[in-house]
Amino acid sequence: KRPAGAPDKALAQKVTKIGVIGAGLMASQFALLFVRRLQVPVVITDLDQGRVDKGLDYIRGEIATLLGKKRISPDEANRLNALISGTTNKSDFADCDWVIEAVFEELGVKQDVFADVEQYISETAILATNTSSLSVEEIGAKLAHPERLVGFHFFNPVAVMPLIEVVKTPKTTDEALATAMATAKNLRKNAVITRNTPGFVVNRVLAKVLGEAMFAVDSGTSFATVDEALAPLGLPMPPSQLLDLVGLKVGAHVLDTHHAAFPERFYRSDNLHKLAEYGTLLEKDSKGKVKGF
Ligand code: CAA
Repeated sequence: KRPAGAPDKALAQKVTKIGVIGAGLMASQFALLFVRRLQVPVVITDLDQGRVDKGLDYIRGEIATLLGKKRISPDEANRLNALISGTTNKSDFADCDWVIEAVFEELGVKQDVFADVEQYISETAILATNTSSLSVEEIGAKLAHPERLVGFHFFNPVAVMPLIEVVKTPKTTDEALATAMATAKNLRKNAVITRNTPGFVVNRVLAKVLGEAMFAVDSGTSFATVDEALAPLGLPMPPSQLLDLVGLKVGAHVLDTHHAAFPERFYRSDNLHKLAEYGTLLEKDSKGKVKGF
């Protein structure tokens, strides 16, 4: 069955090489998924070689973990390692037909990143953004060809979360949308097409849950009490752990973005920004298992 709003899949373009802009946590996770599921070359870039190397180290470490768990064979591990590469030279993106960014969640940064990379890529390459709450249409404002831009929003942890939100702007072509839907399917993810609206669907709901949890904390309730009180709802993770997983900085930013768009409906938390300076809410043992506060 064709997903709601999806164009004819025959319009999808072939994806034979992928460029990833940003080598942070989300970008590294989905770069690995691209090589693993699509078996095509993936090249990642970032501001400097140090950041690129950190991303590559993460990916190679995850490939080693998959090998250790016998999820992939030694041949497959070698193949994946050979398909992934890093660069600080944008001309390595010239033959990419799908370029996706996951750089800092700031409109101006993303606009400039795309305007810059457009000079190096082919006329027909599709551009995708992993933005979680910015307007995809505005992100494409400085592009010569904004009709090739589509939102492609992954969730953390990318390897296990089954959904991708595909975001269509008023300008997105059916070819770009069909390519995004086919790519999501090839990644073995479920894709939903959402409107270009702050937070799309998932973050809108999460911002409500996490915002109310932060409101309770900022009003004097402890994280431990909030988590314990919400346990009967059967959330896959208590709010404090989810904030930690998403990253406190990103979480605080998501609340800000929703509050800016709908001040009456969404809570933002200065306290969460302060906590973000400490990096984490939770103490973990040497194996990364959460011990508590
Ligand atoms: N990276 C890679 N794999 C991970 C992982 C991670 N960070 N965390 C867990 N996994 C893998 C584990 O390795 C395990 O795989 P194997 O079976 O192959 O060993 C599998 O996931 C299950 O892990 P657990 O046994 O630890 O399972 P769990 O039952 O505790 O589930 C969870 C873990 C899937 C993360 C679950 O707690 C969950 O769904 N949490 C909610 C996550 C969520 O809501 N994410 C969305 C965040 S919002 C976002 O990302 C959008 C944004 O823009 C801000």
